[in-house]
Amino acid sequence: MRKHIVAGNWKMNTTVAEGVELAKAVVAASAEVPADVKLIIAPPFTHLYPVAEVVKGSAVGLSSQNCANKEKGAYTGEVAVNMLESVGCQYVILGHSERREYYGETDATLVEKVKLALAQGLSPIFCIGEKKEEREAGRHFEVVTEQVKNVLFELTPEQMANVVVAYEPVWAIGTGLTATAEQAQEIHAEIRKVLAEKFGELAQEISILYGGSCNPTNAKELFACPDIDGGLIGGAALKADSFQAIALSF
Ligand code: 13P
Repeated sequence: MRKHIVAGNWKMNTTVAEGVELAKAVVAASAEVPADVKLIIAPPFTHLYPVAEVVKGSAVGLSSQNCANKEKGAYTGEVAVNMLESVGCQYVILGHSERREYYGETDATLVEKVKLALAQGLSPIFCIGEKKEEREAGRHFEVVTEQVKNVLFELTPEQMANVVVAYEPVWAIGTGLTATAEQAQEIHAEIRKVLAEKFGELAQEISILYGGSCNPTNAKELFACPDIDGGLIGGAALKADSFQAIALSF
């Protein structure tokens, strides 16, 4: 049985005070979420320390939205995996399309980040997904296959066992356009098939989340698909009640 996960990527939203309030509301809301659904929140770096205090002792996991591709040293503005671990993170979102698109993150850098995170005991939530023009050109399978192979095929099975994959079609992020359940299911199944080429049976154990305008209205249909194990939520994670409603959609 694969883990069901609903993770909230807060992106660059909320002040520290607002983030602490939101985290408190998520912890309160988590009481009604079944224990087999793992809730995770990913606030901005500045919020991690106080938010870690809020989620401590609760079932809510803590993630960052990125990490450095270096261990430590003269890398102004970067945050290392041991810092994230020491503040109480258990997860790190890596390879989000906004990082790839606006900050030039490459597969080569992502291999370094994923390996550093795993070595520090953090679970990467590794994001993949095609752009609008790639889907329109019928290249979506090819694009996600490349993203999986270029990064995740560099891992050992022991490392891969601690990775969560998130399929986020770029055209669906923040646009209100969701992939249909059929579109999402067929590509999730393909991602699992590609993972199985390298990792065999382990591919059946890997949680693959859907992200991109996932909300309380469409979550049920998406989560009912056999290869969709949860969601990576942007906008709808900024309110505890809609985040909770999504988590109650399995
Ligand atoms: P939205 O849910 O706002 O479309 O964002 C999805 C996302 O990018 C989560 O990482």
